[in-house]
Amino acid sequence: MPIPKAELHLHIEGTLEPELALRLAERNGVTLPYADVAGLRAAYRFDDLQSFLDLYYRLMDVLRTEQDFTDLADAYLARAREQGVRHAEIFFDPQAHTARGVAFDTVLAGLSAALDSSEERYGITTGLILCFLRDRPEEEALATLEEAKPHLDRITAVGLDSAEVGNPPSKFARAYERASELGLHLVAHAGEEGPPEYVREALDVLHVERIDHGIRSLEDPELVARLVAERIPLTVCPFSNVRLRCVDTLADHPLRRMLDAGLLATVNSDDPAYFGGYVDENLTDTAAVLGLTDDQVRTLARNSFEAAFLDDATRARYL
Ligand code: HPA
Ligand code: ZN
Repeated sequence: MPIPKAELHLHIEGTLEPELALRLAERNGVTLPYADVAGLRAAYRFDDLQSFLDLYYRLMDVLRTEQDFTDLADAYLARAREQGVRHAEIFFDPQAHTARGVAFDTVLAGLSAALDSSEERYGITTGLILCFLRDRPEEEALATLEEAKPHLDRITAVGLDSAEVGNPPSKFARAYERASELGLHLVAHAGEEGPPEYVREALDVLHVERIDHGIRSLEDPELVARLVAERIPLTVCPFSNVRLRCVDTLADHPLRRMLDAGLLATVNSDDPAYFGGYVDENLTDTAAVLGLTDDQVRTLARNSFEAAFLDDATRARYL
């Protein structure tokens, strides 16, 4: 039985498996340039973050109706249960949908329909993290936040994703200030492809509580010392880092060095349909390849609950 854990870095659009993508394409009359599952899987070869994002945004065009988003989230939750996930904080990219004519309310209602009964059906508590696309203007992020306002009871946090290099956290200072005023938690992708300076900016300018990825922080010992001292969680995604060539091979992954340095690291799956495995595969394969001790694996699982946006009573239930 997989070790109980929280998943804190998971893009719901990145859980779109080829089988479901083709089924939704047919259901919605969307033409994809792939004949079958094998043809689609063959396209899953990436050189970097951008080449992945190109396919990720293209394939999500099959998501059109409220039911599509419910089916997507439901399929993830069923798999997450098998992976030992007890709590999931799930990213979604509203701008990737509104930009192609799918309403914010459609996306949120569809996801909510699956999440609302998740605890009852799968024993998984959930939160939603609204991500701003960092390669789009800040005005669009602010408009997205406006659209989210009637639904804040359903949204736990805001995040920042998409193409990192050239789109520093400081670009979103006003959007994060506004999100904070609205009582939302704050996280951001930083230090995946971008430099350690972006991690510092996410902390100092955006005032985030967690860093998503953050592996390039290791290039800056002073930053590492700060992350340790302030117990800033890093949501690390080993399979993603290898597939997007941020790290050469799993054996080269810095996770063990991160734990040895005292960082509050967690293991997550990022976009599991694209990167070759869900969260427990990320954890067990990485632990095996890096020779992590049982104690270190337990620490990673404990870290995931510690880093989650849970109230004390719920956290105590999981720890
Ligand atoms: N990085 C940035 N944006 C993303 C990712 C990622 O790993 N996955 C989905 N959007
Ligand atoms: Zn991510």
